[in-house]
Amino acid sequence: MLTDSFSLSGKTALITGAGKGIGARIATAFAEMGADIILLARTESDLQQVAVAVRRLGRDARVCPCDLTDEAQVEALVAELQEALPALDILVNNAGAPGKGYGSLASVDKRRFEHTLDVNLSAAYSLIHHTLPLLQSASEASIVNISSAMSWMVDKQMAAYAAAKAGLDQMTRVLAYELSPHIRVNGIAPGAIETPATAFITDNPQRLEETVRWIPQGRLGQPEDIALAALYLASPASGFVSGKILEVDGGMAALPGTAIQSRLP
Ligand SMILES: NC(=O)c1ccc[n+]([C@@H]2O[C@H](COP(=O)([O-])OP(=O)(O)OC[C@H]3O[C@@H](n4cnc5c(N)ncnc54)[C@H](OP(=O)(O)O)[C@@H]3O)[C@@H](O)[C@H]2O)c1
Repeated sequence: MLTDSFSLSGKTALITGAGKGIGARIATAFAEMGADIILLARTESDLQQVAVAVRRLGRDARVCPCDLTDEAQVEALVAELQEALPALDILVNNAGAPGKGYGSLASVDKRRFEHTLDVNLSAAYSLIHHTLPLLQSASEASIVNISSAMSWMVDKQMAAYAAAKAGLDQMTRVLAYELSPHIRVNGIAPGAIETPATAFITDNPQRLEETVRWIPQGRLGQPEDIALAALYLASPASGFVSGKILEVDGGMAALPGTAIQSRLP
């Protein structure tokens, strides 16, 4: 059956930022499609909740509390995984946020700027670097990096986050070439998606209305919209796709111009 190409049966997927929002939905979607899931974020209680949902779907869930900005924690975790797993088929680098780097040029110093680069860009590089032997042990592997529309859009107070996500996109293309043909590397650039990170939009009717005005589909995206795109990129269905950044944004990227009104608090 053609739809078998979307199956993740027999595969193991490591998903970062899997405690809530987009990462949690990717985890349950991949479990539904047959994968065992390794859940990574800092907050163990969030991961335990998602693990329950994964196990209800009949798949294994391994909970891995880890701060991706702490290289020693990442190294220790990957060493543990190397002991436990024969291979890693899928890596989704999803953890990220504007974080400490959100703010005006005057208010964000180098330390805060670099923290945002660390969470959104360097952490993905480091995890790919450390898991490479596990990925190479899989019969074929797929890496999906969750970027952002901010990698191509222009908005005030977002220099660090935008730079990090633009860097993630270009790193995706370079590594797609470097790791081909055995490992495919792709990215997804979500538009505005309804998650805990965007509660400041959904909790404010005026801000929500202003945001939706920029989205041709007339709504915010749902975590499931990103999970379905991630499923395509992680599964054999996209076997001839590598080095691609897929915009999942309700058509926003098709609008002329890249400057938007500042709509963050
Ligand atoms: N929501 C949107 O509109 C939107 C739009 C474009 C792009 N994105 C991107 O999509 C991804 C997910 O966003 P989301 O909205 O789902 O965010 P979210 O609801 O805030 O979830 C982020 C996840 O990342 C984890 N995380 C954050 N810092 C971490 C660290 N240092 N180490 C390990 N885990 C960490 C968080 O858990 P802990 O805090 O427990 O660590 C949480 O599980 C991000 O890369 C974001 O930039 C989102």
